[in-house]
Amino acid sequence: MTRHPSHSFAWPETFIWGSATAAAQIEGAAHSHGKEDSIWDAFARVPGAIAGGEDLETAVDHYHRYREDVALMRELHLDSYRFSTSWARIVPGGRSVNPQGLDFYSRLVDELLEHGILPWLTLYHWDLPQALEERGGWANRDTAFRFLDYAEAVHAKLGDRVARWTTFNEPLCSSLIGYAAGEHAPGRQEPAAALAAVHHQHLAHGLATARLRDLGAEHLGITLNLTNAVPDNPADPVDREAARRIDALWNRMYLDPILRGGYPADLLEDVGHLGLNAVIQDGDAALIAQPIDFLGVNHYHDDNVSGHPLAAGEPQALVPTNSPKASPFVGSEYVTFPTRNLPRTAMGWEVNPQGLRVLLNRLRDDYPNLPPLYITENGAAYEDAVTARGTVEDPEREEYIFSHLDAVAGALSDGVDVRGYFLWSLLDNFEWAWGYNKRFGIIHVDYRTQQRTIKNSGRAYAGLIAANRTMA
Ligand code: NOJ
Repeated sequence: MTRHPSHSFAWPETFIWGSATAAAQIEGAAHSHGKEDSIWDAFARVPGAIAGGEDLETAVDHYHRYREDVALMRELHLDSYRFSTSWARIVPGGRSVNPQGLDFYSRLVDELLEHGILPWLTLYHWDLPQALEERGGWANRDTAFRFLDYAEAVHAKLGDRVARWTTFNEPLCSSLIGYAAGEHAPGRQEPAAALAAVHHQHLAHGLATARLRDLGAEHLGITLNLTNAVPDNPADPVDREAARRIDALWNRMYLDPILRGGYPADLLEDVGHLGLNAVIQDGDAALIAQPIDFLGVNHYHDDNVSGHPLAAGEPQALVPTNSPKASPFVGSEYVTFPTRNLPRTAMGWEVNPQGLRVLLNRLRDDYPNLPPLYITENGAAYEDAVTARGTVEDPEREEYIFSHLDAVAGALSDGVDVRGYFLWSLLDNFEWAWGYNKRFGIIHVDYRTQQRTIKNSGRAYAGLIAANRTMA
């Protein structure tokens, strides 16, 4: 691979190098030791919901192989491991705590600490207990209070050893994609319920942040998936308006309540009457705008937005909600995502690393109260295979990673306060509605034997971490 500026960049000594996963995507043991269905277990039983009809029963068996996986993290020189706890394992029916569920995370945290790896815990990575969905799910305000109870239970067990707490991962996906587009669990297509879910997740974030801080937690934050909504033709007001709507719905609907104390005025004009205004209660805004100690940024690609129909036969780029037109949120007659002439990953996502530098600068410029940033996810799916020599050669992923690290280094030189980078993902895993064949791991998993093989990209990443450690 060509050398990248990130290879010789003077990374801050305290920069945290990590990798990330999520419970539902890797653990398996979906019905062991008291765990009950999450909405994803239930969704996977809906015919056609998951590519190939796959499920989460075994996933990559991390529940049983976590020691081996932590040893691999050590081999990769990771400073930190970002993982999530499964609410449906810990509070299976939504009300009483399952001690065996908590024990698993206690063993995992001990194992990480013994290997000198900082546990970075996320409380909600999309796997609501199905029992709570049956009581209305995130459309029901009560779910925010159930989340608070769950957060307290996790903190009571792990707070003596876990220092980094993330409330939510990518609320956009578990609200809009789950409740409006219906492509994620729980598979509902109800716009008003989706906007209620957005607000109730914000509320849950605020409630848990305030309570965990009272209980002594010092590093509290949230992870958002943020994008640059780029007008296809910047000179065309129709494209600019479409990009503004997408920016409001995908970025500012999440950033502004937390960092500015309320939903943006243009968003309320776009979607307030569709159900958002109806669920906001007095006092919510202040609760949601609790100070946070870091903002996690997940970024994979930009979105090229147009307000015009696509030309006949022109393919639409894949976008996070896949079909935003399925929802009325975008308002105008057309919001399309025309394809640009850029390389693409196996997800069909554009590779455009400079976008990450632009995004990080934009956050710094637009949000005066911005806390320190961590890139909590970035990475790429490609079609990998184990060679006869037992290696996995994935030069495209390596190029993706290092060119995005160049962008992070660029943002640091621009003065943006970025304090760490977590590669998505540690292991090949269950890519939600796409099932198992979209491989994001820096460790290959043979799903038949569960054999792990560090990919060349993983070795290159480990090399960069080790080189920086030596320089420090
Ligand atoms: C975002 C999500 O947080 C993660 O669960 C998912 O697998 C990756 N992006 C890749 O799509």
